Amino acid sequence: MISRATSRGNGLRICLSLIALAVVIAAGFIGRRLATQEIDSSIPDVPRTSELVTRGAYLTRAADCAACHTQPGGEPFAGGVAFELPFGTLYSTNITADRDTGIGQWSDDDFVRALHRGVAKDGRNLYPAFPYTSYNAMTRDDAVAIKAYLFSLPIVHAPDTPNRLSFPFDQRWALTAWKWMFLDEHRFRPDPNRGELQNRGAYLSTALGHCGECHTPRNALMAMSTRKILAGAEVSGWHAYNLTSDRASGLGDWTDAQLAQFLSVGHAEDHGPAAGPMAEVVENSTRYLTAEDVRAMVTYLRGLPARSSGYKVPAAAPLTSMDIRGRLLFVQACTGCHLLDGEGRQSAWAALRGDHSARESSGTNVVQVLIQGSQIETGQGPMFMHPFIGGYSDDELAAIGNFVIGQFGLRQGSITPEQFRARNASAKAK
Ligand code: HEC
Ligand code: HEC
Ligand code: HEC
Repeated sequence: MISRATSRGNGLRICLSLIALAVVIAAGFIGRRLATQEIDSSIPDVPRTSELVTRGAYLTRAADCAACHTQPGGEPFAGGVAFELPFGTLYSTNITADRDTGIGQWSDDDFVRALHRGVAKDGRNLYPAFPYTSYNAMTRDDAVAIKAYLFSLPIVHAPDTPNRLSFPFDQRWALTAWKWMFLDEHRFRPDPNRGELQNRGAYLSTALGHCGECHTPRNALMAMSTRKILAGAEVSGWHAYNLTSDRASGLGDWTDAQLAQFLSVGHAEDHGPAAGPMAEVVENSTRYLTAEDVRAMVTYLRGLPARSSGYKVPAAAPLTSMDIRGRLLFVQACTGCHLLDGEGRQSAWAALRGDHSARESSGTNVVQVLIQGSQIETGQGPMFMHPFIGGYSDDELAAIGNFVIGQFGLRQGSITPEQFRARNASAKAK
């Protein structure tokens, strides 16, 4: 099985290590004085109506809170999802309404402040693994609806797992400096030059869906770039592709219908499936959006000016040779699900024709899917690819990967056996 916690954890690994570095540097000159937090003037809590709860349930999915607060197979929103960092482990918290271990004692104000400013009820700074740099654009009404929904769910008693972060990364006050520099840089504001649908799409993608947390490259201090919004980035060893209309690396040659299909079901005609972290996004979040909201998101994405990828996409090499061994192994191991003509056998999610991952000579995501596998829950049941690491040699895995790139991407793949070595050795040791 694929451990979601692990894939998520790795996802933020590099990001958080650099954030931590930034924090330490910045804290040095800004100092502790700034650690006092601004407090919103208190507005009384909104009564919880069934209408508010229904709206909150929808928004909670659109914002994908479950991705990080629900462990695979665990109680909804009870936290405990591990984020493995080079300097220790951070755990997400219980956000059910339990009064002792959850957020049962939080007022609407407390909750809104956490989402907007990254500050807990007791004034502690929260780590930006909790993507408040995106949620800070959420309207108060929507935040309050999310809280109403969370408070309508069964209470779970689940004490927070203590973080294991080494000094000085465990010094939360130091995050003030980082927030001071970057917190409001991506704050969404409706743009009068955009249509209503496009503004709705921008709000859904930025303030709720936080697409930029994975798809926007980060600057040297690991804050999301303001110039390369959604131009593509690397997250947990996966390439989260360029979502702008750039033709070379972005969505320039996708139709609106293909993009809508991808977000609503997790694969697109002639563009392959959503795998890995993106499969989780579709599974938990975008597939629940109304057709109108998907249309808004598509309209927003289409309107993004083409930006070349911040992620270094190696130049595509034309196909010169195909390793016969790669083909034999593919026929043996993969054609049970992926037909050689690019169709999926029995599942449209397994159609690899036009798949972006196969068109990247570097094979970043092809390597990941062979190492980790991928799964997605769909309206037609679960679609599943198991990991291939452990069952084949490093050489064989590289040959299979390069065959995929040649066959479905018509390029010369440059995957090397070394890309599998460490993971293959540890998988075989088990
Ligand atoms: C990408 C991962 C991620 C997503 C998505 C996410 N969170 Fe979190 N959240 C975390 C982590 C990690 C923490 C713990 C941060 C810390 O301890 O500093 C956290 C902490 C919190 C806290 C502070 C709780 C406390 O007891 O201090 C609240 C409230 C919260 N999240 C609510 C939400 C809501 C509501 C959503 C959806 C709108 C959401 N989170 C989505 C990762 C996430
Ligand atoms: C947790 C990280 C993460 C988040 C959040 C995320 N994505 Fe992705 N996205 C990825 C990764 C990784 C891929 C590559 C998936 C693959 O290899 O199949 C991807 C692929 C895509 C693709 C396919 C692009 C192509 O060229 O094939 C689209 C479209 C997309 N994402 C849209 C979105 C939108 C819209 C949002 C916000 C609602 C979003 N993503 C949020 C990680 C993420
Ligand atoms: C049991 C069926 C099954 C087998 C066997 C299988 N796959 Fe898959 N594969 C899938 C499914 C289903 C998906 C889509 C997963 C998703 O959307 O989460 C997929 C996705 C992929 C992708 C797309 C990754 C991306 O980033 O978009 C590649 C590449 C791939 N498989 C290659 C292979 C190779 C190579 C083999 C043989 C070593 C293989 N698969 C074996 C079912 C399978």
